[in-house]
Amino acid sequence: MLPVLLLSGLAAGVRAVNNGLARTPQMGWNNWNSLGCDVSESLLLDTAKKLIDAGLRDVGYNYVVLDDCWSDGRGSDGYIRVDKVKFPNGMKSIAKHLHDNGLLYGMYSSAGEMTCARYEGSLDWEKQDAESWASWDVDYLKYDNCYHRGRFGTPEISFNRYNTMWQALNATGRPILYSLCSWGEDYVHTWGMSIANSWRMSGDIYDSFTRPNDLCICTNAADPHCVAPGSHCSVLNILNKVAPYADRGQPGGWNDLDMLEVGHGGMTDDEYVAHFSLWAAVKSPLLIGADLRHLDAKTLTILNNPAVIAVNQDPLGRSVTRVRRDTDVPKDKYGVGETQVWSGPLYGGDEVVILLNAVGEDLEMSTDLNEIFFSDGPEGSAPQTKEKWAVYDLWANRMDDGTAQRILDAPVTELESVFSKANVYNSTLTPYVEGLKAGDERLMGKKVGELAPGGELKATVPKHSVKMYRLKSLENGGKRYSIHRDEL
Ligand code: GAL
Repeated sequence: MLPVLLLSGLAAGVRAVNNGLARTPQMGWNNWNSLGCDVSESLLLDTAKKLIDAGLRDVGYNYVVLDDCWSDGRGSDGYIRVDKVKFPNGMKSIAKHLHDNGLLYGMYSSAGEMTCARYEGSLDWEKQDAESWASWDVDYLKYDNCYHRGRFGTPEISFNRYNTMWQALNATGRPILYSLCSWGEDYVHTWGMSIANSWRMSGDIYDSFTRPNDLCICTNAADPHCVAPGSHCSVLNILNKVAPYADRGQPGGWNDLDMLEVGHGGMTDDEYVAHFSLWAAVKSPLLIGADLRHLDAKTLTILNNPAVIAVNQDPLGRSVTRVRRDTDVPKDKYGVGETQVWSGPLYGGDEVVILLNAVGEDLEMSTDLNEIFFSDGPEGSAPQTKEKWAVYDLWANRMDDGTAQRILDAPVTELESVFSKANVYNSTLTPYVEGLKAGDERLMGKKVGELAPGGELKATVPKHSVKMYRLKSLENGGKRYSIHRDEL
């Protein structure tokens, strides 16, 4: 076995930060997308309760992340002060409450003299601020990029600025997940993995699937002329920026496509399904951005789909990559239109496939085993193309709205029985890796067909939506192991 393991390690180029965190992409909630600066202790505690009661903690969303606007200047001792009106009991008491409830606490600052909303920043105060997070028992730092006093422009300058906080976090001795928010600047995908658990690849997401916006002019994360990653970036804009670098994520460090807009209200249900599926399969952190105090049934049934989350939390930790992009297709009302096919390896030799229809009308789409396994050998040379595969639809077992509504309406005393009747997956009790090893049906989706060697996978994909499948080999009792796809 040893040579195989060594080969696997080398093939995957395993190098990442050594804090032991984010072996799979982090999951949780962050207030920014829906609430901006409207933050308070009660918001965090109410959200924590909702994460638990709606069953979201127990499908994996365990970080509660407070974004910008929580501080009140810096004291003469050099330590940052907490806004006592918004957080009357301080940060440590919030951390304790979250920890007592099986959750973890994330906070925010900027590698600049101010945060983006112009609160106190941590630039040149890294040591003091890291000490504060550690003393408050914080588990996660999102570290932004505003007001950096011009200290950017080359990968090395940005690396050094972010590395100072990484060193300061390390020096505290507390494992703190380090999430860079430098919007893809200075080729962060080339150095982020050396010091951080995730790195943002774009300016801020907004609640639209394809709508272009002048505030988000960059379409290519590596374009040196793209000096303003901006905000108001659509789902498709971000996806297209990440596509050339999708393979940079690995256990311990991930491309961050930005927080989820699912449930915010600006997209259709199909668009949110597509957004969630793609973020999951590209192995982005999954941070819910909706105000969970007003969670509705449809939103819950997207966020709690264990078959899709299992792809995100897959122990192999490999992103899907894009194997086809067609732009010569009809356009939507914003003049945008394209189709894409993505595929990638999963635990045990399974494969995930996504057909994306970003066109303004429903389409027949198809791909075949040669294209799906392109990365394992072009032009049909991959051994997988000669096998038979079972096809599982990862959205076919989506929870029905009635069940979701019963969960949302149930008094706390009845929740356990509602969860058990609905047969919901509980990753707190059975981590995804265990469920996958056991072949738990809830993580597999629904079998919808089989592919013969070289076979074609066809589907009608509604406009602005996806079809998402797990392929399972029908050879060797359903387990297809190969050297470089083995579990590390
Ligand atoms: C942006 C960041 C957002 C949010 C915001 C807070 O730079 O990308 O995710 O944190 O700042 O002001």
